[in-house]
Amino acid sequence: MNIVDIIIRKRNGEALTPEEIHFFVEGVKNETIADYQTSALLMAIFLRGMDETEVATLTREMALSGDSLSFPERLRPIVDKHSSGGVGDKTSLVIAPVVAACGLPIAKLSGRGLGHTGGTIDKLESIPGFRTELTEAEFIRNVEEDGIAIMGQSADIAPVDKVLYALRDVTGTVDSIPLIAASIMSKKLADGSDAIVLDVKYGSGAFMKTPEEAIELAQVMVGIGEANGKKTLALITDMTQPLGRAVGNALEVREAVETLQGGGPEDFRAVCVALASAMLLAGEKAESREEAEAMVQEAVTSGRALQKLKAMVQNQGGDVAALDDLSKLPQATLEQDVVATQTGVVVAIDAETIGKASLALGAGRRRKEDAIDPAVGLVLSKKVGDAVTAGDSLVTLYANDPERVEEAEGLVREAYQIEAREATGKTAVVYARVTQGGVERLDAAKGADDAADEA
Ligand code: URA
Repeated sequence: MNIVDIIIRKRNGEALTPEEIHFFVEGVKNETIADYQTSALLMAIFLRGMDETEVATLTREMALSGDSLSFPERLRPIVDKHSSGGVGDKTSLVIAPVVAACGLPIAKLSGRGLGHTGGTIDKLESIPGFRTELTEAEFIRNVEEDGIAIMGQSADIAPVDKVLYALRDVTGTVDSIPLIAASIMSKKLADGSDAIVLDVKYGSGAFMKTPEEAIELAQVMVGIGEANGKKTLALITDMTQPLGRAVGNALEVREAVETLQGGGPEDFRAVCVALASAMLLAGEKAESREEAEAMVQEAVTSGRALQKLKAMVQNQGGDVAALDDLSKLPQATLEQDVVATQTGVVVAIDAETIGKASLALGAGRRRKEDAIDPAVGLVLSKKVGDAVTAGDSLVTLYANDPERVEEAEGLVREAYQIEAREATGKTAVVYARVTQGGVERLDAAKGADDAADEA
């Protein structure tokens, strides 16, 4: 077999055989295929796509390129959750303790942020002392003892994905549905879970810009999961504006703790309830959506979910006192409001631009090796649908370097769109549920249809 023939076949729009895909993934792993040939095949896949069998095979081969975790039978079923990434997405910090408090063990491998999107591992590391590198034995022991552990993904899980992702990043081939689906799902197939709940986001802060594209990506990922024997479902959620109010690592931990205390922003709570309930159903801890939602509410109001977060922080070397007294989390030295210059209603907040403002303050990485500042970021006082009077604070910036504030302020101003009209009310955030059985459109989709009818 020859990689050039494989590239030509895909370039011509033909479907690759399982043997060809195996040959390609092995060649990437063993470095017998050059980066320029891999890049050429990635571009051919980007342009020509892949059918269902090709994507499922590519994903399986990528998963098999490295180690896989396996959990003792007594802990099963293990239900994993994955978000396709966004701005202000701190859902794992709430969902993991909630489902653990409902008796469903959670053993989650998470990633770091890159570019304008944040990552759970960076957020957890803003808790003083918290360790995200655990041995497999420690990880499993914590899940056995307290039902909860979150750690960074080791280099040995789907190593070929790392090579492919790095090449996609520099060859204009990131936003391809088969490549995104194979990348995400290869890591999920290797993580030892029995069921997967996916949070596939749409909007400017997400890979998929429209709900329909997100549904298409979700359908491919659900197909891959099910084809590999894992119960898989996806919720399609809104990332047209940041989720919740806080963007930045310690600021997001604060918001997650407030949510576990029964507060937190409404849109963020809604996404957490929907995802946690879906996990309880997938893990057979509840029989109906209503029962699952009631369990989630009870885990929060009883304080048991917050106790689970504290147990995880304690087990992983973090300072539990910082969760009782949030002022012990890293604090920025500068605080500055960005105020509205006009009166009206916020009609849009571009999530990607807000992510870039947070990045400008130092909360994220432009390159993998960059250090991040856990204390900095921003908090939105106004969200889409809110009325604004000139002079009101739109956003509070938290910074340590005064030189970074001006750029962040400019980006925040660019992100906000304010129009002189009546307040519109809030829109729902969960758009659809995608399972092997089909697509069920939910509140946000119905809201969008109603708005279109009114227009
Ligand atoms: N997250 C991943 O892990 N891979 C992608 O390709 C996109 C998002």
